[in-house]
Amino acid sequence: MKGLILSGGKGTRMRPITHTAAKQLLPVANKPILYYAVEAIKDAGIDELGIIVSPETGDDVRAVVGDGKRWDINIEYIVQAEPKGLAHAVKTARPFLEDSTFVMYLGDNLIKDGVAPLVERFHNKKGDALILLKEVANPSSFGVAQLNDSGQILCLEEKPQKPKSNLALVGVYLFNKNIHTAIDDIKPSKRGELEITDAIQRLIDVEYRVDSHILKSWWLDTGKKDDMLEANRVVLDEMTNYVMEGSLEGSTVVSGRVHVGKGSVLKDCTVRGPAVIGDNCIIENSYVGPFTSIGNGAKVSHAEIQHSILRENCQIVDFNGRIEDSLIGVNVELTRGHRKPLAYKLMLGDDSKVEVV
Ligand code: TTP
Repeated sequence: MKGLILSGGKGTRMRPITHTAAKQLLPVANKPILYYAVEAIKDAGIDELGIIVSPETGDDVRAVVGDGKRWDINIEYIVQAEPKGLAHAVKTARPFLEDSTFVMYLGDNLIKDGVAPLVERFHNKKGDALILLKEVANPSSFGVAQLNDSGQILCLEEKPQKPKSNLALVGVYLFNKNIHTAIDDIKPSKRGELEITDAIQRLIDVEYRVDSHILKSWWLDTGKKDDMLEANRVVLDEMTNYVMEGSLEGSTVVSGRVHVGKGSVLKDCTVRGPAVIGDNCIIENSYVGPFTSIGNGAKVSHAEIQHSILRENCQIVDFNGRIEDSLIGVNVELTRGHRKPLAYKLMLGDDSKVEVV
């Protein structure tokens, strides 16, 4: 079996951050989202992985993820010239996939239990496809599946007004080679994309067997800022240990599950976990609250930060205010000229410079 991670697309819902960065490389608990996907594939015993990339962000993805040696797998990059849909991505990957069975994993998704149980189930059931589903409160926003009593999929509908179930398609799919014929048989949808739901519906229509697995643990789609913060919250909440590789100075108090990386200095600070602070950060006279991730090389002074992601080399200096529910890009400089305590909710793209006066 092979793996196929989709890391192309436009990422329009995450602008301005995605003007300069691939959304799949954004960090959750200081680790690129894409790493979680690669690790899920590796943990399922798959060692041949293709990653779909766009011409715009492909080089960045390649630079961050590499050739797979770090995980002892082979990674091949496949450029999709335009983001013409999930089924189009599979079509583009056909020379890599050949006639192999494969797991397709959306590179901006996080799934707690990984894909190993699904791969096992797919091998045992011997169907033509296995689709991961999750009960959701708002099925009209998703692709929705209707099942028979044995869990086989009867039909799929994309964002239905009157959903036939509350089971949404999660971003993991297992296929055998019959999906390629189904993709060849479908036409682009109204939004001009080759939809994977249409290809799966085609499999069902020609009486191939499409099984389902209902996920009971969490699944996160990190398409928007608040989804990213929720992913960061959930992943940090699962962190179980305390790792202190930096140094604590002055009156600093660190409590709860906190990771602090090498070369970081925390002076006269309060840090309350779960939180991660990367390598070579300088945090002074500040409060770092729960569900915060601070990237390598960040500098923070006279600030309160909680429930936020600060990327690498941010400088939040003499801020005298609170930052919460925020996603702050690489190299952002944030300063504030007066001392009245205020709270801010921000989404700042890479290299922003903000002065609040
Ligand atoms: P989406 O989140 O559906 O699309 P997008 O990344 O273009 O984002 P937005 O809607 O904000 O513009 O894509 C899910 C995943 O699949 C994501 O990791 C990008 C990837 N993808 C491709 O690789 N090729 C494609 O043609 C499409 C549509 C998505």
